[in-house]
Amino acid sequence: MKVKKLLSVLLMAGMVMGITACGSQTKTTTETTGTAQTTEATEASAGDIPLIGVTIYKYDDNFMSYTRMSIESAAQGKAELLMNDSQNDQSKQNDQVDTMIAKGVKALAINLVDPGAAPAIADKAKAAGIPVIFFNKEYPDGTNNVGYDKAWFVGTNSAESGIIQGELVAKAWAAHPEWDKNGDGKMQYVMLMGEPGHPDAEARTKESVATIEAKGITTEELAKQTGMWDASKGKELMETWLAAHGDKIEMVLCNNDGMALGVIEALKAAGYFEGDKFMPVVGVDAIPEALELIKEGKMVGTVLNDPLNQGKATLELAVNAALGKDVLEGTSWELDETLAVRVPYVAITEENLDVAEEAYGMK
Ligand code: BGC
Ligand code: CA
Repeated sequence: MKVKKLLSVLLMAGMVMGITACGSQTKTTTETTGTAQTTEATEASAGDIPLIGVTIYKYDDNFMSYTRMSIESAAQGKAELLMNDSQNDQSKQNDQVDTMIAKGVKALAINLVDPGAAPAIADKAKAAGIPVIFFNKEYPDGTNNVGYDKAWFVGTNSAESGIIQGELVAKAWAAHPEWDKNGDGKMQYVMLMGEPGHPDAEARTKESVATIEAKGITTEELAKQTGMWDASKGKELMETWLAAHGDKIEMVLCNNDGMALGVIEALKAAGYFEGDKFMPVVGVDAIPEALELIKEGKMVGTVLNDPLNQGKATLELAVNAALGKDVLEGTSWELDETLAVRVPYVAITEENLDVAEEAYGMK
């Protein structure tokens, strides 16, 4: 970063008298031959390449690691990033935001730990006079209600993922009458939910089943619990449910692929996917590991949650906001009335794996 370089040069020369950050410029006062002299650093680093502070709610999340990579690659030549792992701890994230503000970031891009913390983070940004782009975890009351007119959201329409998952399941169920193992005409399912209070988790849980029912399929819930988006928790839940219900389970609905990976581990250990022992499992995200399982016939399908475009949109809005431009300037994104850019979901089965491979940078 050029400002830093300039500072160290000045420090080495022992000439620094005082430095004041001023808008997007760094004002440096130096003393040379007894007469104070003011130089304005107006180079690209202070103007065109803004410093942007980013938090990821936890690095240890399958989907977020792809979104993070996308933000990093979109930032090439456009922004300098301060990237933080909030380790699933909202108070840690609050401290990180304070630190980044103290370091002079020109915009924040925040993947909240707790979606409800949006107004508190927005207050910090407001007090510092900088814009904030929330991404992936949406304030449940809408970003337009966080109390700050320089706050936006980049993510998805959560309900859409549940609806698409439900449609995918209904279609596959109709094509496979043998999946109704007890022949009672109903779909006995188990549901692995994402973290409580996360709009994606809430909407996927509700909309997937509502859509299956709307397609005329009667469902019966055998078990439903949160697996916190996490593969190892997904595995544990599935082990417990297999012990309790075994082949009474006819469908496994997962709010994300991370948990589906764990479920499939548990199923494999119990002898599934060998011979004609089969269990249909669906997820959301379309992460590469899930695409592999779909290819192997161990997962019925998933729903693309596009990290490439969500990361890109997050970065582009943050850069524009940092430079004081209209957030959409020079981009192809659109904002809805809640000040959100919502990247569409896409149903993924073995027929269109390439669509997801592209979004995960595999192509
Ligand atoms: C993804 C999950 C991820 C979560 C993190 C969701 O949109 O589908 O896989 O764990 O975001 O907030
Ligand atoms: Ca049945």
